[in-house]
Amino acid sequence: MPPIRKCLFPAAGYGTRFLPVTKAMPKEMLPIVNRPLIQYGVEEAARAGIFDMAFVTGRNQRALEDHFGSSRDLERHIAGSKRESLLDDLCRLMRECEFSYTRQLEPRGLGHAILTGETLIGDQAFAVLLADDFCVTEDAGVLAQLSALYDEHRCSVVAIEEVPKAETSSYGIVAGEELAPGLYRVSDMVEKPEPGEAPGNLAVIGRYVLTPDIFDILRSTPPGRNDEIQITDALKTQAREGKVLAWRFQGRRFDCGSVAGFMAANAFVWNN
Ligand code: G1P
Repeated sequence: MPPIRKCLFPAAGYGTRFLPVTKAMPKEMLPIVNRPLIQYGVEEAARAGIFDMAFVTGRNQRALEDHFGSSRDLERHIAGSKRESLLDDLCRLMRECEFSYTRQLEPRGLGHAILTGETLIGDQAFAVLLADDFCVTEDAGVLAQLSALYDEHRCSVVAIEEVPKAETSSYGIVAGEELAPGLYRVSDMVEKPEPGEAPGNLAVIGRYVLTPDIFDILRSTPPGRNDEIQITDALKTQAREGKVLAWRFQGRRFDCGSVAGFMAANAFVWNN
């Protein structure tokens, strides 16, 4: 089986926690200092050796496509000025990567968004990156960590971190047997359980490697939490056969889906 070549970016959410700024633009375009979240996500995928970027977009997503679109006029405009280099990293990324888009007509859950992306992914294992989980690591990044584990174990792998018990209702929570320090074979997964019902406090964060059988599983997964099709429920089906690993990733995550996490990420990047 080949290594991971494609990364799916579900980006069709309404970003309601950030209204009004997300009224006419996707939350993935919110800036960490001067780069949008989605650019950090694409950079992380590229550092993991993944150069095929597949976006599942929704309403108001033009800014996202334009961000990775041609900008010759703008480049000409800043050529020779002291701002000439500000587009360098982005232009390099655009030369390195392919970008493709498909559209989710209504938000029906992360599982449904991933299933919508099947047309761009095809029959191969792939990465999923939720750009509002902004991660900083000392190595090539969380996706590189997951991709290396996939190369070794050839099954789905999710990134996890410990969260306070009181916060389990914001995450997919996993339970399992620790095979090696930080690496678990998942035996149970629950989407956003109340603390009393959670099988632990290991929370899935927005980095996944999924094997392509997930698409058929998603097709037959009924709506779960919030009446949405949940990737957590589909992964639980794979986990029943012992085919899901969870990795307590090395690094730091900022929850940029919340205003407080977003502000903290900006302060962190500005100061480092
Ligand atoms: C999604 C997933 C959840 C996961 C989280 C990570 O939830 O459904 O299992 O823990 O991403 O950020 P969302 O935050 O989109 O509601």
